[in-house]
Amino acid sequence: MEKLVSLAKRRGFVFPGSEIYGGLANSWDYGPLGTELKRNIMDAWWKRFVTARGDMVGIDAAIIMNPKVWEASGHTAEFTDPLVECKKCHSRFRADQIDVTAACQSCGKNADFTKPNNFNLMFKTFLGVTEDSSATAFLRGELAQAMFVDFKLVQETSRKRIPFGIAQQGKCFRNEITPGNFIFRTREFNLMEFEYFVHPTEWEKHFESWLGEMKSWLDFCGVSRDHLVFHEIEDGERAHYSKRTVDIEYHYPFGQKELYGLAYRTDFDLKNHIAKSGADLSFTDPVSGEKYVPHVVEPTFGIDRTVLVTLLEAYHEEDAPTSEKGETEKRVVLRIPKQLAPFKVAVLPLSKKTELSSVAEKIAQDLRAHYATDYDETQSIGKRYRRQDEIGTPYCVTVDFDSLEDKKATVRDRDSMQQERVNIGELVDYLRTKLEPSS
Ligand code: GAP
Repeated sequence: MEKLVSLAKRRGFVFPGSEIYGGLANSWDYGPLGTELKRNIMDAWWKRFVTARGDMVGIDAAIIMNPKVWEASGHTAEFTDPLVECKKCHSRFRADQIDVTAACQSCGKNADFTKPNNFNLMFKTFLGVTEDSSATAFLRGELAQAMFVDFKLVQETSRKRIPFGIAQQGKCFRNEITPGNFIFRTREFNLMEFEYFVHPTEWEKHFESWLGEMKSWLDFCGVSRDHLVFHEIEDGERAHYSKRTVDIEYHYPFGQKELYGLAYRTDFDLKNHIAKSGADLSFTDPVSGEKYVPHVVEPTFGIDRTVLVTLLEAYHEEDAPTSEKGETEKRVVLRIPKQLAPFKVAVLPLSKKTELSSVAEKIAQDLRAHYATDYDETQSIGKRYRRQDEIGTPYCVTVDFDSLEDKKATVRDRDSMQQERVNIGELVDYLRTKLEPSS
């Protein structure tokens, strides 16, 4: 984990937030490469689950909603974690995450904790100039509620029939008691999820099918099934809205913890919004005429946790041959799935001489029209290959003096380190066959 956090900072994936002011605990900023990686994950997810399907549509709702939404959803009353405080050092912990009979993790003194107190995770804010209860609002604690509140509008405007889903991506906020472990648990985080609306008798079939879809999405992100645990959450342990939950957990370096969740939310949310708002959020089947409140299966994917596991799975250290015969050196390589890599290709002239750099710059410019392309002409070619390996660039294109004669460049593969001479005019097609093998 330390190596990954250090690489993430050194190479511009993720930085500590507000660092020049000494930082802000558990706040992180995505740097240039992290932003590309995160965006590629979000785009791939959107394409896979929304645009490539006929039964899904997206929305992009306001973060601050009418506070009545959170009353109806049960969040103001029940979105809580049990908080305990060490009576000696006043450190606060989640009672379900520590052994309250053991010594305090912070001061090491014998166990002496307060009784668990339900601490609400919703982030409060005030609308407008007055800071009293009439102006209190909340930053959304989950994306889901907008999909319920807008259900009728979306269904009618998109003319979708059950079963269909509404998807969303965006920021959520929770006043976590114990954030930590890099981007694993923060108070402000990115989420992508959908509510899949089904006939009440069909939820089990859809639940199983979405579990399968979540597994194949994780395959796509390069996550080994050996590192995953599918945890059926028992009665009494589930969120207040769920009748069945499977947590997809991952073996992080800091322990086995949640990565994603799949919940059967029944008609809990729509029914509560119907009762609180008076709106009709039912669906009438145009064929059978049956009118009912749809039930909901909800697959939910933390974006930051996806970034984290993609990086953890990708990180490899290995011995690689140097240019000296028989010698090896340590190479750090991020084997990020090619579709998700921040740069798809880097163009590297063998030297800074203008006859090479002018050709190389032209190649880079042509490639940029198709693929995120880096250009680097400083330091030895070996060091530049290592730099690209460390940020997960699948292909490096090297321009040398022979290129001026034979109009070919050397393409090096990140994973195999094999090199191939390719006609400069055919580079785009060559890379397409490598990067988009099915197209
Ligand atoms: N709408 C359902 C819902 O929000 P959740 O299990 O509370 O369910 C969904 O959260 C996902 O959001 C989790 O599976 C995890 O990936 C991510 N997540 C939750 N809390 C987080 C936090 N504090 N920091 C980063 N990611 C978080």
